[in-house]
Amino acid sequence: MIALTSSPLNMLGCFIILLLLPYHSLSADPDPLQDFCVADLNATVSLNGFPCKPVAEVTSDDFFFDGLSKEGNTDNPFGFAVAQGNVLSFPGLNTLGISMNRVDLAPRGINAPHSHPRATESIVVIKGKVLVGFVSTSNVYFYKVLTVGQMFVIPRGLVHFQYNVGHSKASLLTAFNSQLPGAVIVSRTLFASNPPIPNQILTKTFQVDDDVINSIKSKFA
Ligand code: GLV
Ligand code: MN
Repeated sequence: MIALTSSPLNMLGCFIILLLLPYHSLSADPDPLQDFCVADLNATVSLNGFPCKPVAEVTSDDFFFDGLSKEGNTDNPFGFAVAQGNVLSFPGLNTLGISMNRVDLAPRGINAPHSHPRATESIVVIKGKVLVGFVSTSNVYFYKVLTVGQMFVIPRGLVHFQYNVGHSKASLLTAFNSQLPGAVIVSRTLFASNPPIPNQILTKTFQVDDDVINSIKSKFA
């Protein structure tokens, strides 16, 4: 805690801390300290991010990623496909604090409720008509139906989803202020963790019987 006294030096210190606070609380990943640092994903040292590949070995290909250009296969029970352009698939993003995904949805397809612990997400629809929504920590549901070119933002860490409400396929691009936003998928987290969360916890949490929990677990097995 900062002790507030009327000494001019202390007041100057408090003022500087207050000025700097937004820079810490608004940023996601830390700022880079060099032009680029293409990730060496095979490095044996472990640190926050990835070590850089030697500059002499960096080529234009390190700054190119073709993984979002093709429609994904939505032939699954969720009618959903995601292609992730994060530091793991696109090492050139290392230390740059950004990444992008492509989401494809069959008619009535869903990108199930999930959250990103390390990033705010912005969404732009590039095909179709999509209901996007998130729930705030006050349990308020915010949502919008988006058509091509329209954008919605999901504040960092909040649970959100996308659902194709159109009659044809839908696609969206999502952008993050993190090279590796992480994804906590609510259903998988609760019903398909490894090892599993005991039924006792889930029956009590959802106020249902074992067979309901077993039935849900079997869908994610
Ligand atoms: C969409 O919500 C995504 O995480 O790509
Ligand atoms: Mn998301």
